Amino acid sequence: MFPERIEFLQRKFGLLFSPDDKVIFFNPESVTHCLSLSFDNLVTYQTFYPVVDQLETAGIKCVQNISQQKFNLAIISIPKSKKLARHLIYLATKAVPEGLIIVDGNKTSGIESIIRDLKKRTKIANVISKAHGKTVWFETPADLQIYEDFPIVVEGSFETQAGVFSSDGIDPGSEILVDAAAQDLSGAGADLGGGWGYLSAKVLETNSISELHFIEADFNALNLAKNNVNDQRVKFYWCDALKWDAPKLLDFIIMNPPFHYLGKAMPSLGVDFIKVASRNLKKSGTLWMVANRHLPYEDAINDHFSSFTELSGSKKFKVIRAKPK
Ligand SMILES: C[S@@+](CC[C@H](N)C(=O)[O-])C[C@H]1O[C@@H](n2cnc3c(N)ncnc32)[C@H](O)[C@@H]1O
Repeated sequence: MFPERIEFLQRKFGLLFSPDDKVIFFNPESVTHCLSLSFDNLVTYQTFYPVVDQLETAGIKCVQNISQQKFNLAIISIPKSKKLARHLIYLATKAVPEGLIIVDGNKTSGIESIIRDLKKRTKIANVISKAHGKTVWFETPADLQIYEDFPIVVEGSFETQAGVFSSDGIDPGSEILVDAAAQDLSGAGADLGGGWGYLSAKVLETNSISELHFIEADFNALNLAKNNVNDQRVKFYWCDALKWDAPKLLDFIIMNPPFHYLGKAMPSLGVDFIKVASRNLKKSGTLWMVANRHLPYEDAINDHFSSFTELSGSKKFKVIRAKPK
């Protein structure tokens, strides 16, 4: 685990750290990950709103873009997406033109292959192995331009990028939901967890939608969606859907809810999204959702809605239409 490894590093290799260091920490997952660092000289880079909210509440500075500001030390806690992990390492070399880069990760996040590749491209100072993961460090300047990641175009017109949900193309679940719901949507609605915008872009092809609230926690996905869903009827929110309330009760909500939190399975998130939908719909409104067939959402829908119907889905996905209480 990250906190154990960073504390071990500070105990055994204390010279790597100086109290005067200006530190940039990429992808801390929680305030706990920052506790062994001095908050005064720390800037974190995090794009997932619920974590940003926790960090900022604890008084930790948080950014979503790399500016001209330079640092002496970068720490990267790698995400599961290998392309994004490499891109963050590239950004670190830009933010720390002369200094030290520490890259850390659990084995389940793919740290070993990141280290194998780093060894081919730069001079590694050391690697330690601890608590089901590894930490590696190297000095800059280091030319890791090859790790820079760029958005790609999928299905002819949609832009996606490394690390966002379904970055290689359209999610088949969302495609099924569009087929089931698009013709029946009208009035004011919301897309909860809208990702890079596929669902919204497709349903907005119908003129009967008057306004659509687009809710997404991933800063990068939201920015992609602003281009992918280029429509005056849409209002974009970078926020935590679990804390979002519509300005007035809605006619419909569409969603393909998340069931992962920071790369780890968490089906209770889907249940929380169902609760958000129930409190934001008019009595005459409708929830349309798609989910992997194995996810047990029916009890939550029974608790928070008056009735629901399973519509034609697929072997892997179920589409549910539910009416509020
Ligand atoms: C299964 S994906 C669906 C994405 C998109 N609707 C689509 O069809 O491609 C779920 C989305 O919810 C977002 N998400 C996860 N937790 C969230 C939260 N607490 N608040 C808002 N969005 C969240 C994820 O970043 C992800 O983009």
